[in-house]
Amino acid sequence: MVGSVEVFAGDLSINEKVEPLPEDFDPTAIIKDPLPPVVETNVSINGVTANGNEKKAKREIVLGRNVHTMCLEVTEPEADDEVTGEREAYMASVLARYRRSLLERTKHHLGYPYNLDFDYGALGQLQHFSINNLGDPFIESNYGVHSRQFEVGVLDWFAHLWELEKNEYWGYITNCGTEGNLHGILIGREVFPDGILYASRESHYSVFKAARMYRMECVKVNTLVSGEIDCDDFKTKILCHKDKPAIINVNIGTTVKGAVDDLDMVIKKLEEAGFTHDRFYIHCDGALFGLMMPFVKRAPKVTFKKPIGSVSVSGHKFVGCPMPCGVQITRLDHINALSRNVEYLASRDATIMGSRNGHAPIFLWYTLNRKGYRGFQKEVQKCLRNAHYLKDCLITAGIGAMLNELSSTVVFERPQDEEFVRKYQLACQGNIAHVVVMPNITIEKLDVFLSELVQMRSTWFQDGKHQPPCIASDVGEEHCFCALHK
Ligand SMILES: Cc1ncc(COP(=O)(O)O)c(C=O)c1O
Repeated sequence: MVGSVEVFAGDLSINEKVEPLPEDFDPTAIIKDPLPPVVETNVSINGVTANGNEKKAKREIVLGRNVHTMCLEVTEPEADDEVTGEREAYMASVLARYRRSLLERTKHHLGYPYNLDFDYGALGQLQHFSINNLGDPFIESNYGVHSRQFEVGVLDWFAHLWELEKNEYWGYITNCGTEGNLHGILIGREVFPDGILYASRESHYSVFKAARMYRMECVKVNTLVSGEIDCDDFKTKILCHKDKPAIINVNIGTTVKGAVDDLDMVIKKLEEAGFTHDRFYIHCDGALFGLMMPFVKRAPKVTFKKPIGSVSVSGHKFVGCPMPCGVQITRLDHINALSRNVEYLASRDATIMGSRNGHAPIFLWYTLNRKGYRGFQKEVQKCLRNAHYLKDCLITAGIGAMLNELSSTVVFERPQDEEFVRKYQLACQGNIAHVVVMPNITIEKLDVFLSELVQMRSTWFQDGKHQPPCIASDVGEEHCFCALHK
């Protein structure tokens, strides 16, 4: 059945009597929980279904599993639970099992841009506090259990990274990169209420969501095969709307191909089209690469010395953090267009959310202090080296692959087996998949993945009836090894 997960369902049923954990129970021991079963829909890639049957060439979107088949029901405690401790024991066993499944899933994760390697043991002592930075980071509210001193320390670090003086920036720790985009584009809209939003087709979906939420006119700009914005198409499109200000989302690393839009060229095209600096607003979406690019030699600079309005980055991606978070930095003079004083807070409302996670700034502060600019530089270099290693090995094995120059996102032919995709938690789009090489992805991990991929792949195409998919339209002919292009 789709998504049925025996992992928890059978032996953890709330109605069953649960034995207390034995004295020698070791919650760190890894048990081999079976992988959740694959979605058995008509998913077909190149006419081959996950189980190898031939189907009419037709792709259906795999939307994951139905969580209701694996949810852990919440039930009312029995009257005598407090006395017997049964419920405590049950919950401890659920959590111990869940922890083991997390260890297992973390070990095999390759597809999303999350650094899963961190140790925040020292911060365990703070879990007992409801730390909330509601309101403006720079204006203390009446709620005293906050972490603004950490938040502003982190913001200073990022403002310095992107070259904006302390007295000229405003920012806050967001819930994620999406919130950064929602905020950056909102500032653009508040500065230019009649502005048109321009974003490349390969921008993250949150950018188009912002356009829908704010009911903004949005123009999609074509991309090059690398995934970068096509600046000629951009110029053509802004010239069609010269009467309206332009709000532009510039990608510092696209989601699927890790392509970096040419910020300098975008600015040049705006100037050529007659847009003076007071007629455009640029938001830089640096969800992943905003923190990596400053440490890549020869990479163009993201800096507020250029006419940009805001930069956002995700905190749980390259930094690594147990909870999603992000950073948004903008110019102080823009934020006044957006903010309102709120007496109830005794602070100012300039953020998207009301209550704000006060733990996240402390986690970010902790890692920034431990690693510093030099530590990040080393990690970035390691990621880029390992990404090249993966791309080279894929090509040597005859698997079409592409790696953008400034990126650690290796794009390659989509594996033909959804179970394999799920095991390594690969992000797929059409005929391509990617691995995002983060600091926790070692050469050893890549070797295990590669050898399994090569071995499995030989079975997918062994009968000669099926061929590797063509990925030329996604990554260019030179990176495609299908029958036609190899
Ligand atoms: C380019 C880009 N922007 C924004 C986001 C959204 O970030 P988050 O998942 O932190 O909301 C992502 C996520 O992968 C991304 O790749």
